[in-house]
Amino acid sequence: MWIRDSLRTVFETLEAENDDDVPILVKIGPDSPEESMLDLVDIVEECDLDGIVATNTTTSREGLESPRGEEWGGLSGNPLRERSTSAIRTLARHTDDDLPIVGVGGVDSARSAYEKIRAGASLVQLYTGFVYGGPRTAKRINQGLVELLERDEFSSVEDAVGADLE
Ligand SMILES: Cc1cc2nc3c(=O)[nH]c(=O)nc-3n(C[C@H](O)[C@H](O)[C@H](O)COP(=O)(O)O)c2cc1C
Repeated sequence: MWIRDSLRTVFETLEAENDDDVPILVKIGPDSPEESMLDLVDIVEECDLDGIVATNTTTSREGLESPRGEEWGGLSGNPLRERSTSAIRTLARHTDDDLPIVGVGGVDSARSAYEKIRAGASLVQLYTGFVYGGPRTAKRINQGLVELLERDEFSSVEDAVGADLE
């Protein structure tokens, strides 16, 4: 309970100081229990914040076969992809439709960006994908997304947001 109260205090303080109405989004880790994620959504909505970024890196090494799997620290990129998409789905099922979710974790292609969108993300962010794909990655993703949207007969990205939740 004290965590909820502490978070509420932090968010309310930020909002009170936010004279310029800068959008405030809360970033969530993928390893929290579902109940904690949903608690966080409730507080974000109660405090009128502007969205959720899902997710940060994972400490899990489940299914990872890399010889470097034992290294300490947060894991990003493809091994995080499904875990992050699953968190987005959980959050999207629970949020009001108008609370934006930024989907991040293992996006490196149109297919992986589309997966996040269909899970409920209305924006997509990538970090590790750029390291491997280089600066043309965004263009490649955008072009591929157009094809996937056309294939599934969506007229815009917005129409595809949360399509897998139905
Ligand atoms: C080297 C590195 C540094 C990062 N630093 C931050 C940070 O300072 N703040 C933050 O919110 N997330 C940070 N992240 C997490 C990323 O923003 C992102 O949520 C995560 O890597 C999953 O996305 P990706 O698979 O596209 O990399 C960092 C990730 C990496 C790999």
